[in-house]
Amino acid sequence: MSVTVLGAGSIGVSFAILFACRGFDVAVYDPFEDALPRAADDLRERLKQLDLTDPAVAEARVRFTAQLDDALAGATFVQECAPERVDLKQELLAHAAARTAEDVPLASASSAIVPSRLAEGLDASVAKRILVGHPGNPPYLLPVIEVVPSTVTAESITRRVTEIYRSAGLRPVLVRREVEGFLFNRLQGALLREAYCLVRDGVAGVDDIDEVVRSGLGLRWSFIGPFETADLNTRGGIESHAAKMGPAYERMGAERGQHDPWTPDLIAEVTGQRRALLDLDDWDERVRWRDRQLIRMRAPNAV
Ligand SMILES: NC(=O)c1ccc[n+]([C@@H]2O[C@H](COP(=O)([O-])OP(=O)(O)OC[C@H]3O[C@@H](n4cnc5c(N)ncnc54)[C@H](O)[C@@H]3O)[C@@H](O)[C@H]2O)c1
Repeated sequence: MSVTVLGAGSIGVSFAILFACRGFDVAVYDPFEDALPRAADDLRERLKQLDLTDPAVAEARVRFTAQLDDALAGATFVQECAPERVDLKQELLAHAAARTAEDVPLASASSAIVPSRLAEGLDASVAKRILVGHPGNPPYLLPVIEVVPSTVTAESITRRVTEIYRSAGLRPVLVRREVEGFLFNRLQGALLREAYCLVRDGVAGVDDIDEVVRSGLGLRWSFIGPFETADLNTRGGIESHAAKMGPAYERMGAERGQHDPWTPDLIAEVTGQRRALLDLDDWDERVRWRDRQLIRMRAPNAV
């Protein structure tokens, strides 16, 4: 497996570390000559920090080049990590398509540009190879990656990219529709928007809001998501949670000019998906499991 990373900035270097640590050969391209030694130093330092038995082995799997065609020679997967500009990314992707085999997937790390926009104006044979593979930062420490195909991305390409990411130790999540911010930044944005409002309204200071996440929400969220949290917070599961807490959350949303009620159909959908994951008969055991996770990570001053 030979991965070409386009762009040797913070995400490009992080992807190189991820793939190299999993035994892939990696070629990293950056058009700026001075970016390459900086990236090589950055890669070495980050590898050292990882406490690997032999960081030199991973380091030796990565080569840096300022020649695009050299970087693309023999690539079986392309991960584009260039600056967040449509024109620049399009040009790179089109070039990468022309210099690689026609079944080689072209994934962009773009945080905000949807894949249809990246594929706009490109030949259909190229467009079908393009999707977004949006990582957390840095991808070698945060395993989630959002896989976002456009409406014209070939299913075989989406499947292949998902397999490649899995084999690199990532946990791919499929984003079924192209929405701005995908999942990661939309969820992050919802919390951050509210946090800003709370500071603006003098409800709490910045560090106290961070404390609520550090010492509360974030501890649970490090191993279960918001849906499972709600499911385990109320006996009877998420359906019961929605009946009890739904109206209060609705009022809080309305205060911010939001009107997205949890309709009976929506609650039924969410409940159905949760019950497929956790039968209510197993709910007590799962609550005990949640508590065991919290005990393992409890703060020194907790009981
Ligand atoms: N930083 C984050 O937290 C984060 C998280 C997820 C996704 N992303 C996305 O990843 C991409 C890269 O972000 P970053 O933070 O690594 O940016 P960065 O500015 O650190 O790195 C970009 C690199 O691309 C190089 N570059 C410039 N022109 C180029 C070209 N024509 N071809 C190839 N490389 C070129 C630059 O020299 C630089 O080394 C962006 O699309 C960004 O939205 C960033």
